[in-house]
Amino acid sequence: MWQGRFAQQTARLVQQFGESVSFDWRLFEHDIAGSIAHARAQLSAGLLTADEFAAIQSGLRGIESDIKAGRFEFSAALEDVHMNIEAELTKRIGPAGAKLHAARSRNDQVATDTRLYCRTSIDSLDQAVRALQNALLDQAATHAATPLPGYTHLQRGQPVTVGHHLLAYVEMLDRDRSRLTDCRARLNVCPLGSGALAGSTILLDREAIAAELGFDAITRNSMDAIADRDYLAELLFVVSLCGVHLSRLSEDLVLWCSAEFGYVTLSDAHTTGSSLMPQKKNPDVCELTRGKTGRLLGNLLAVLTTLKGLPLTYNRDLQEDKEPLFDSLDTLTLALAVNTEMIAAMQINADRCRTAAADPMLLATDLADHLVRKGVPFRDAHELVGKAVAAAVNSATPLDQLDLATIDPAFGPDAAAVFSLDRALAARSNPGAPAPDNVRAEIQRRR
Ligand code: ARG
Repeated sequence: MWQGRFAQQTARLVQQFGESVSFDWRLFEHDIAGSIAHARAQLSAGLLTADEFAAIQSGLRGIESDIKAGRFEFSAALEDVHMNIEAELTKRIGPAGAKLHAARSRNDQVATDTRLYCRTSIDSLDQAVRALQNALLDQAATHAATPLPGYTHLQRGQPVTVGHHLLAYVEMLDRDRSRLTDCRARLNVCPLGSGALAGSTILLDREAIAAELGFDAITRNSMDAIADRDYLAELLFVVSLCGVHLSRLSEDLVLWCSAEFGYVTLSDAHTTGSSLMPQKKNPDVCELTRGKTGRLLGNLLAVLTTLKGLPLTYNRDLQEDKEPLFDSLDTLTLALAVNTEMIAAMQINADRCRTAAADPMLLATDLADHLVRKGVPFRDAHELVGKAVAAAVNSATPLDQLDLATIDPAFGPDAAAVFSLDRALAARSNPGAPAPDNVRAEIQRRR
């Protein structure tokens, strides 16, 4: 498509090194939508006859259905998806096809296609995150009142409910969805008409093109429009952070399904065995989710690194944006789907959770609060309960069976009532705290 000024053919290795059609073929639907919108603007500007436009449109639709049906053969010699489609169009409809590229460049074409690809992907990711939220909500609803130790430093801290713990992830996923929405709004701007870098002397109606493609606005600077991949880096960040959230959930589940914790049993369908140790049942989905998050972070860093040294405007380095993008979107999409299934199918072992949470040490803070209600300053109460804890540890007596009066009369005979776990949970009733009624109300609100 540029052979005019060249006396030699492109070297075979250069073709092999530079082709992108092996991966950017995935942009084909957006490329075709963009070309049809562009051709319609050419028609309005009097550059095409109605017949030529009709031939272009139906030619492109024919190519689209051939690609979808797997009947289209992409050629690496034609480098990328844009040239493959344009060359095929001209082959099919003749000279009208050769008119299509007036007033545009592959530079504004690829920028448009990639934005549309990201936009579509954001919409399906949002659905996938929502499905995972629903799976978590269902489990939280079943276990709204199931007590669970809450941890800091992976040491037992205070009692929470399983429902409250799971709803923490629902919150993180909410923020992921709101970041997807923000990212979508910023990227939904049409660069078509920016040409190679400096627009065109042929003036097409950019607003009409943008409207046809569902963009909210047009880009305001042709050079920025060609060079900009902010939207892509931003999406890769949003995807990475969502991956980090899934990875933390995975880490909780890896612990919870171990014999040491035993809080959950993952389904046979979502675990794997060992080829050597017959008894093994491994949480590979969780480990792979955690492991693949490394790829998401790597892809984000790859794109930022590609961008950081580029002078305006287009540089071929930018072609390196697509594989990380596709890989991250594919990886997160699959991770969300498999985690949704696994969470829905996992069994939460309420007895194990309750037994672990029944450790009276978890209510040491409640015991201090009990003293505070009697007028003891919190620092003094903390000290007194600390002494009680030390006495319990040293005498190997459970904290709730210690004679607290021997530590300090301030504890009073009613201190024993502190050690009711269900009461302790119900008492945590301020907004945002883990009381079962709060968890139920939260689930209700979300549903
Ligand atoms: N395949 C190229 C890419 O993905 C399309 C743009 C090519 N533009 C160019 N001036 N060589 O970046």
